[in-house]
Amino acid sequence: MKRTKINILLALEKTPGEIIIKGWVRTRRNSKEFCFMEINDGSCLKNIQIIANKDLENYSDIETITTGTSIAVEGRLVESPGKGQKWEIQVSKIEIINMAQDSYPLQKKRHSDEFLRTIAHLRPRTNKYGAVFRLRSEMAFAIHKFYKEKGFRYLTAPLITGSDAEGAGEMFRVTGLDPEKVKKQGKMDFKEDFFGQESNLTVSGQLSGEMFALALGDVYTFGPTFRAENSNTSRHAAEFWMLEPEMAFCDLKENMDHGEELVKYLTQHAINECHEDMNLFTSFVDKSLPKLFDILLNTEFGRISYTQAIEILLKSKQKFEFPVEYGTDLQSEHERFLAEIYFKKPVFLTDYPKEIKPFYMRMNDDEKTVAAVDLLVPRIGELIGGSQREERLSVLEKRMEEMNLPMEDYWWYLDSRKFGSAPHSGFGLGFERFLMMITGINNIRDVIPFPRTPGSIDF
Ligand code: 4AD
Ligand code: MG
Repeated sequence: MKRTKINILLALEKTPGEIIIKGWVRTRRNSKEFCFMEINDGSCLKNIQIIANKDLENYSDIETITTGTSIAVEGRLVESPGKGQKWEIQVSKIEIINMAQDSYPLQKKRHSDEFLRTIAHLRPRTNKYGAVFRLRSEMAFAIHKFYKEKGFRYLTAPLITGSDAEGAGEMFRVTGLDPEKVKKQGKMDFKEDFFGQESNLTVSGQLSGEMFALALGDVYTFGPTFRAENSNTSRHAAEFWMLEPEMAFCDLKENMDHGEELVKYLTQHAINECHEDMNLFTSFVDKSLPKLFDILLNTEFGRISYTQAIEILLKSKQKFEFPVEYGTDLQSEHERFLAEIYFKKPVFLTDYPKEIKPFYMRMNDDEKTVAAVDLLVPRIGELIGGSQREERLSVLEKRMEEMNLPMEDYWWYLDSRKFGSAPHSGFGLGFERFLMMITGINNIRDVIPFPRTPGSIDF
């Protein structure tokens, strides 16, 4: 007989009779005649109760089963007289696969998130983190589903790159050079390196995305990106996942329409498909989540320019740690004020000063601002960053010169503006930030399986 997963069993209308389950013991309680256990196999939040009669031949072992033990259970699925559960299992046989040692750290019902981060290899066995990572898996699927339905192609952009997409210089170097040799030579000779030049881990798949959008039409990348920025905040990770749609013949407004549709779709998908896990977040993590979902699904997102945002911030009586000034990047406190307090809903900010944005953003007619867009959301701040791209070769070249970019390294990028260039737009959505938004979880470390942040790579 094959094992049945607990989520399947719990959804059954009538009993199939004999079944086998395999999973991990969450709790055990002995009475005179029976031993009761709650088993979880990770397929869903809920446990199933099993009842082992003392006639079982290995009952003396069963009585001593510890929390965390892996077992296989054969028995009959029967209606449970207990409250809050439809089914339970009358055991005919228990195989103890591996008895968990007494030092198993997940004995108590509740542990702090900080403690659980120190055992990131075990935390998916708790209710909360099981829910987080089932949701994460489902949302990755939802992204592919959304784009499949819209006729987009999935592009797997390279992770090792020779270019710095964002021009931000916060990249992890990839090298095969021998540190001893480098020390002796007193320098890194990249001509001798694996690729014969400097290479890095990607900070964004955008530039590849642009090339493919100008060939396949609408594309998206969804994969890991890496940033060596030393910002030890609850919203930054050194390795995070980014979704990047890139659309040919698309302007800034259509780009925003797309972003809004995407956020609404993903939120609705989470609510529909992860009902039980989402209930855990609304009950135990953030009770105001249903209100947020209502806003995300049923209101139109705000749309204002960067200039208007600065005016709102300057006029507000709010005390900020960082001063507000035209021409500087918004800090997360400013972004949150706008989304959380002023608009009380997600808001797109557009048309930023060119000085604080990368070279590829399309120059506006004022020649001072570019067709950038960020989506700011309550509690998180920036969820999406994107733009309409500069499709005019001469304008792009001028901008690159002003910014002292090595034009020869970008010859292939510039080619796209010579051979059938077209208006196009796209953005990047931080996958972890989206998960933080819909779970109420406040630290990015708690929505990534094994977080990588400054000074920390334990697993
Ligand atoms: O705004 P960013 O830097 O935009 C880009 O990289 C563009 N090339 C995307 C594009 O147009 N195709 O990053 C996009 C999003 C941010 O809005 C944020 O949600 C997330 O990626 N993000 C991070 N998430 C976690 N940790 C970090 N260190 C992040 N940096 C950016
Ligand atoms: Mg950004």
